Amino acid sequence: MHAPLPEGKYAETVPGVAELFRVRWSPRSFSDRPVAPEILTAILDAGRWAASSYNEQPWRFIVATKDDPEAFHALLGVLLPFNQAWAKSAAVLILTAARSNFSHNETPNGYALHDAGAALAYMMLQATASGLQSHAMAGFDHEKAREVAGIPPEFQVGAVVAIGYPDSAEKLPNDQMKQQEVAPRKRKELSEVVFKGRWGQPIAK
Ligand SMILES: Cc1cc2nc3c(=O)[nH]c(=O)nc-3n(C[C@H](O)[C@H](O)[C@H](O)COP(=O)(O)O)c2cc1C
Repeated sequence: MHAPLPEGKYAETVPGVAELFRVRWSPRSFSDRPVAPEILTAILDAGRWAASSYNEQPWRFIVATKDDPEAFHALLGVLLPFNQAWAKSAAVLILTAARSNFSHNETPNGYALHDAGAALAYMMLQATASGLQSHAMAGFDHEKAREVAGIPPEFQVGAVVAIGYPDSAEKLPNDQMKQQEVAPRKRKELSEVVFKGRWGQPIAK
């Protein structure tokens, strides 16, 4: 069961969208409560079951938990200062990577990061289903991340995600973050991103 969300964080979906999608959001305030190993394993296993082109499963996940301070601080250290300021409170950081070529014929897999992103989305939703939340990041030094985590050259660096139990906005280090933590979540209208049959043609409501 998920913890209650700040009011504006529930997604305003059309009826019929599963509750899990309404209650996943990206907090920056995390409590110091650790994540039990079996819960973390369930999150990672959800990612493993994402669909992928040729079932390549190009994703790899490098996990750094707070109870391994050396690995945690090494990964935290590659984040941009803005992200470090809040992500340090998360219990878990995960770096994703994706194999650039298909393993069956070594031709480029143009869907490698696409599919790693799908796996990341599954992990994020499983985190929410387990009562945690997550926050993905692109704001980090990708080359430093490769070095720190020992990612081989045949893999692309993906994203970092912070995972933990959400905490109060008041614990965040500055006013801007505190405000963003309670601000309503926004999305483009469905009509802006969905076309009927052909680009630009509106879909009937
Ligand atoms: C690939 C990716 C990279 C992101 N990078 C950052 C980041 O570097 N720092 C940050 O604070 N949020 C980052 N975000 C979080 C987004 O800003 C957030 O998901 C978006 O505003 C929608 O909010 P919601 O997840 O609560 O619906 C990133 C999200 C994704 C998916």
